[in-house]
Amino acid sequence: MLVVIRNVLNPTQLQQVRSMLDQGHFVDGRLSAGKKARQVKNNEELHAPAGQMEKLNQLVMGSLVQHPEYQAAAMPYRVAAPYYARYTEGMGYGDHVDDPVMGPPGGQYRSDVSTTVFLNDPEQYTGGELVIQTSFGEQSIKLAAGDAVAYPSSSLHRVAAVTSGTRFVAVTWTQSMLRDPQRRELLFQLYQAREQLMQSDPDAHATTQVDHVYVNLVRMWSEL
Ligand code: NI
Repeated sequence: MLVVIRNVLNPTQLQQVRSMLDQGHFVDGRLSAGKKARQVKNNEELHAPAGQMEKLNQLVMGSLVQHPEYQAAAMPYRVAAPYYARYTEGMGYGDHVDDPVMGPPGGQYRSDVSTTVFLNDPEQYTGGELVIQTSFGEQSIKLAAGDAVAYPSSSLHRVAAVTSGTRFVAVTWTQSMLRDPQRRELLFQLYQAREQLMQSDPDAHATTQVDHVYVNLVRMWSEL
């Protein structure tokens, strides 16, 4: 399941993020890559003093984790601090699968959901699509600044080469309370039906029933 989450960041937040990125120091992204990914990774990542990173993370992650669509789609249990990546002309990231376990010893987490937050407008670069392999073929994703896409970390994906301009994204991983992507998808569909019913028919018996089933399926399936 690929879920597009709109307006994670508003224009004011985007401007703050962009001004921090514009002043930031970027290093070769291969330094943070796993063995296999290093061969196909060609981008740069922000290195900034801890205080500045914390401010940036609060802005980006604060908005992401509070977003109801993200909550319902990812069912986060642990959320990693993001990487801020920059792709200039000629850079890209070949086909790879994200590392299954990330984080420092003692602070490790399993990556279930990968999320990319687009930090600049698609008109500012050509190429640079996030291409994800799904059971229905390849999906090519390039979103407006402030929008995000969440997808299973188990999927093979790549970033097409940027042919002009610069692409800025934040990338993060989530350990979900629901390890199984199919269960996450089923629950997300049920969540959407429940939201609609609560809007259109809040007092109906069917609304109460759907809510009841949703809540208890979350209880049945979540692992903490
Ligand atoms: Ni990746």
